Amino acid sequence: MCGIVGYVGKDNAKNIIIDGLKRLEYRGYDSAGIALIVNGGIRTFKKEGKIRNLECELNKLHLFSNIGIGHTRWATHGEPVDTNAHPHSDCSGKISIVHNGIIENYSELRKELISKGHRFESDTDTEVIAHLIEEELKNSPSFFPAFIKAVRKLKGSYAIAAITVYEADKIFVARKDSPLIIGIGNGENFVASDIPAFLSYTNRALPLDDLEVAIIGKDSFQVFDIKGNEKEKEPFTIPWSLAQAEKAGYKHFMLKEIYEQPRAIADTISGNLPWLKGSVPLEGINPKTFNRVQIVACGTSYHAGLIGKFYIENFSHLPVEVDLASEYRYRSPVVDEKTLVIAITQSGETADTLAAVKFAKKKGAKTLAVCNVIGSSVTRESDQVLYTYAGPEISVASTKAFTTQVVTLFMFSLWLGKMRNVLKDEKVEELLHELMELPSKVEDFLNGEKERGTVKEIAESFYKAKNALYIGRHVNYPIALEGALKLKEISYIHAEGYPAGEMKHGPIALIDETMPVVVVATKGSVYEKILSNIEEVKARKGKVIAVTNPECREVKEKVEAFIEVPEVNEFLSPIINIVPLQILAYHIADFLGYDVDQPRNLAKSVTVK
Ligand code: AGP
Repeated sequence: MCGIVGYVGKDNAKNIIIDGLKRLEYRGYDSAGIALIVNGGIRTFKKEGKIRNLECELNKLHLFSNIGIGHTRWATHGEPVDTNAHPHSDCSGKISIVHNGIIENYSELRKELISKGHRFESDTDTEVIAHLIEEELKNSPSFFPAFIKAVRKLKGSYAIAAITVYEADKIFVARKDSPLIIGIGNGENFVASDIPAFLSYTNRALPLDDLEVAIIGKDSFQVFDIKGNEKEKEPFTIPWSLAQAEKAGYKHFMLKEIYEQPRAIADTISGNLPWLKGSVPLEGINPKTFNRVQIVACGTSYHAGLIGKFYIENFSHLPVEVDLASEYRYRSPVVDEKTLVIAITQSGETADTLAAVKFAKKKGAKTLAVCNVIGSSVTRESDQVLYTYAGPEISVASTKAFTTQVVTLFMFSLWLGKMRNVLKDEKVEELLHELMELPSKVEDFLNGEKERGTVKEIAESFYKAKNALYIGRHVNYPIALEGALKLKEISYIHAEGYPAGEMKHGPIALIDETMPVVVVATKGSVYEKILSNIEEVKARKGKVIAVTNPECREVKEKVEAFIEVPEVNEFLSPIINIVPLQILAYHIADFLGYDVDQPRNLAKSVTVK
């Protein structure tokens, strides 16, 4: 997944593009580049590594341009070296393009273009786009028709921004499956893969839909379908302030986003209340038309889906299957018009999840997206969208998106239960009341941690561990999985989440005094069972770290270390129980000195399958 920024307007494009690329660095950061139109020609600069390498190069020059495009790369084709960094140009150097996505037919296009005399400099799929436009220009009256003809020959996913000396005051863009958003300024316009890139300049945005192209000038923008027919589209006002997209004084975005959870949960509850209360209809889906639910998601969002299964089955009595999106479309699932497929995705751009939604729609299923990004691809593909109102989640490790996904699924299961006459109104009200108390309970825990640093202390005594086991039961088994994922993805320590009842079927062989075992041991229907699991671990000299409630004396007496969270309804306990595990992973990674927000090999949204 890469970051694209384009600018055309009155200011110096170089500064605005570099500033924008920095705000997108979480999208991919193994190389970066920029192309500017200067004195009628295109100047291109690109560097391996972080954006600051490119910035140092540019600061040595006195460059002024009103138009340009820039790119941060997360390599999919070709090593992350200077020559493979975007932008890429045609043979003449009069066309420059940046791209996010994968051109699936690039090798045959490349062969054909080489046979026509084109010379390639990189190993990327992207470079074919520039040469394809150059080739089409030979039989086109002007640049835009050539641009559209070239784009129509592409197979795969793309967000493309192009500049050319032939129309030196325009940026040409196209999108299919990879996000691209126009920022509408005053005497200046922007284009970017994600909103934070231009949010400090304007809060007016226009996401492009699949197979749309656009021409952007400093005072104008025109959107067309892929056949060249102009389309009327209305920009929307971004509800986020830039501050929300900045670190707000925390050391890392991840810590900021962990501490934003009370607000994010409260906003998600209030943002979704209207349809739960019935004042706003969920027009895209009719609960009377489906008799089964399938949930598709990846990573952390998949763990939210596992919790959603408990909710929907318990409150609406509908059967639920939960699939990893990357597996779903290959297992020949039974999907028909009576199936509701729920796609859970923070970014709304995860290629596997998007592909699963498209697969389900082809089979006649109704699709519902639970998503955090307005106007993202999965939201536009789905029949109905339920937004999480977590605000921008910049850190690669997902935290507030997860808790708000679980909140949204909880609310949706109440709605389903009500619509299917399984839940009486008073039961819905009772559960909703407990949900609405959650933000303050999470706040209490976070304030306690800020004061006492209990979790940070535990992290300090365990950060040298080489392995860890996380166990939980029932609705907290997915929390064991999520806690383990948090640790491994930012501290690179091998951690495994396991159902506590499975220990005796194998994993207990792993237990010894070097293996920390994190146990989710809060009050609920399986509390006694989890107590015996703690005994099993202790009997093998395992070091137990427990997430538990203040009243759970039996737990606190038995374990090496414990973290107290306020007791809540068992079904809501995952939302608060995950918070100490997020903080535990954060501090362990920080003690190890790793780049918490941009862990190695990972990107915030995986837009490649
Ligand atoms: C979570 O911490 C990871 N960054 C990753 O597993 C993520 O949840 C997954 O890639 C799905 O992303 P999405 O929610 O944007 O679809």
